[in-house]
Amino acid sequence: MGIELDYTNIAAFVSKSEIDAAIESKKRLMEHLLAPVKENTDSLGWIDPNTLVNQKLLTSIQKKAEEIREKADIFVLIGVGGSNQGARALIEAMGDGKVEILYAGNNLSPKYLGKIMSRLAEKSVYVNVIAKNFATLEPGIAFRVLRHYMEQRYGLEEAARRTIATGTLNSSSLEQLGKMKGYTLLPFPLNVGGRYSVLSAVGLLPIAVAGIEIGELLKGARDEKKVIHSRIPAKNPAVIYGALRNILLAKGYRIEILSYFEPSLSYFAKWWVQLFAETEGKDGRGIYPSMCSFTEDLHSLGQYIQEGPRILFETFLNFENERAHYSLPREERDLDGFSYIEGKDFAHLNRTAFEATVGAHVEGGVPCLILNIPELTPYNMGQLFYFFEYACYVSASLLGVNPFNQPGVEAYKSKMFAALGRSVDI
Ligand code: PA5
Repeated sequence: MGIELDYTNIAAFVSKSEIDAAIESKKRLMEHLLAPVKENTDSLGWIDPNTLVNQKLLTSIQKKAEEIREKADIFVLIGVGGSNQGARALIEAMGDGKVEILYAGNNLSPKYLGKIMSRLAEKSVYVNVIAKNFATLEPGIAFRVLRHYMEQRYGLEEAARRTIATGTLNSSSLEQLGKMKGYTLLPFPLNVGGRYSVLSAVGLLPIAVAGIEIGELLKGARDEKKVIHSRIPAKNPAVIYGALRNILLAKGYRIEILSYFEPSLSYFAKWWVQLFAETEGKDGRGIYPSMCSFTEDLHSLGQYIQEGPRILFETFLNFENERAHYSLPREERDLDGFSYIEGKDFAHLNRTAFEATVGAHVEGGVPCLILNIPELTPYNMGQLFYFFEYACYVSASLLGVNPFNQPGVEAYKSKMFAALGRSVDI
């Protein structure tokens, strides 16, 4: 079964016939989006997870991850945006913590970098630098710092054994550097943009280092692809989600919040924010993607959501089966006033809060969509990654923007590079 979209709570805001009409009016476009694509089509390399990694590459990733899990105390993942967000999303949600994973190259803060460097002494360190375009400043210079550290500490040969470079294998500067130094090289697929790359070697090595079954993750994505590509547009949850987002935007709902009741999903939400922000926010168009970790954010943003301007809608992640349990201890006397729920499981309380929140927000004028996901497992997360990537592609295509570029990201870069004295475009 694929990811299910429950849009019953949307009825007061959008009618079923509006959704059907929106999909019907874009029938040709939908057929085009759902049609099989050629493997090497520009930017669509992610659409068939089977083509992202073959068995040989998968086995070599698994083998390298096993070596790192056996030998490393710390694994430094250097990358920014699409080059680290997907892996971090899953690692924070379900990594086993056997190897400590640190993230570098995602900001320019000297305090942050200093803190990472200070953690490395006397620990066994491995480094994975990931960049599609190795001209990106943050990962590029963080890697120079780490490279110097590794070479001084381990010597050239051992440093190279402990360094993995994930970059495009088309004579990119990272590939050339990797070959010169003797690093393990992993491919960043040429026809996949960073934000669509989690199910390629980009995401798979760090995810496997965290002890997460990447075979299951890929299986989930492949199965979700089958589901999405076998359903007609009017019954296709990814298409309906994409269509609904555009209908809501046209009605003035300009902000979408991804809401979840499991705090370890915050980095997944950041991955989602990046996916939709860079894909849709251009040409003066697009929904502003935002995120809320509940119940904590009900005590802050919850006020705005309930009673602020009616410009936002929510998409809830609902993991139906929770394996973790914790119940409220019983007391002889009700000293704190909470005995009315003693013996109750936190999973039950969290679910009750979820249902109450949806009810309150709908009553407050917030359209609420729910994505039902069976459980927080690698398989289901593979499905969810694929679902959102595909839905985002549909949504951006309906919006009429290019889903695969991010020209706006260049504006700050050119000013920064000019100020730093970089003379040529790399
Ligand atoms: O989605 C994208 O393409 C971007 O967010 C990139 O991943 C990000 O800018 C990092 O780029 P690079 O891997 O070239 O350093």
